[in-house]
Amino acid sequence: MSAILDDLVFRPARVEDAARILAFWAEAAENEARPADDAATVETLVLRDATALDIAVQQDRVVGTLISGWDGWRAHLYRLAVHPELRGRGVAGELLRRAEDRLVRLGARRLDAMVLEQNGLGQSFWATAGFSPQHEWRRWVRSAE
Ligand SMILES: CC(C)(COP(=O)(O)OP(=O)(O)OC[C@H]1O[C@@H](n2cnc3c(N)ncnc32)[C@H](O)[C@@H]1OP(=O)(O)O)[C@@H](O)C(=O)NCCC(=O)NCCS
Repeated sequence: MSAILDDLVFRPARVEDAARILAFWAEAAENEARPADDAATVETLVLRDATALDIAVQQDRVVGTLISGWDGWRAHLYRLAVHPELRGRGVAGELLRRAEDRLVRLGARRLDAMVLEQNGLGQSFWATAGFSPQHEWRRWVRSAE
């Protein structure tokens, strides 16, 4: 196991972590093309599913996140990010290992991840983890407001 992993605490996020998570995402997450994050959004997620948002914490700072959404049918992985100073040392791999354990325990039979076409780093991570793109699908979206 990478030495850095011994130095981190991996745990589900709590409501009181929201501000630190938002600050971390502003610095480390990759996607600009999404609705703005705010504390209420994080709180809604954590109150709905107390184990959906896993974080890696070093002393007092959040250095990694992964959301594993499970609705009883599909398992979605998103908001994977690791602090730039700690990349390449297995932190994302450990976040995914924990999320996968949880999702399989809950009954998931397939996992999916949202990965931007231009995100080579993200694609490399997910490919190494055994994921592959589904070229026959595109994501269709519209605002819910
Ligand atoms: C993608 C990201 C989460 C990876 O986090 P990480 O903790 O550095 O990843 P890990 O150390 O667990 O690496 C696991 C595997 O990912 C791949 N990988 C990680 N960094 C890589 C790099 N710089 N170049 C190529 N492949 C890389 C490798 O296959 C690696 O396996 P290996 O160590 O056996 O070579 C991190 O780079 C990040 O936060 N990037 C910005 C946000 C982002 O793009 N998130 C992904 C959204 S889809």
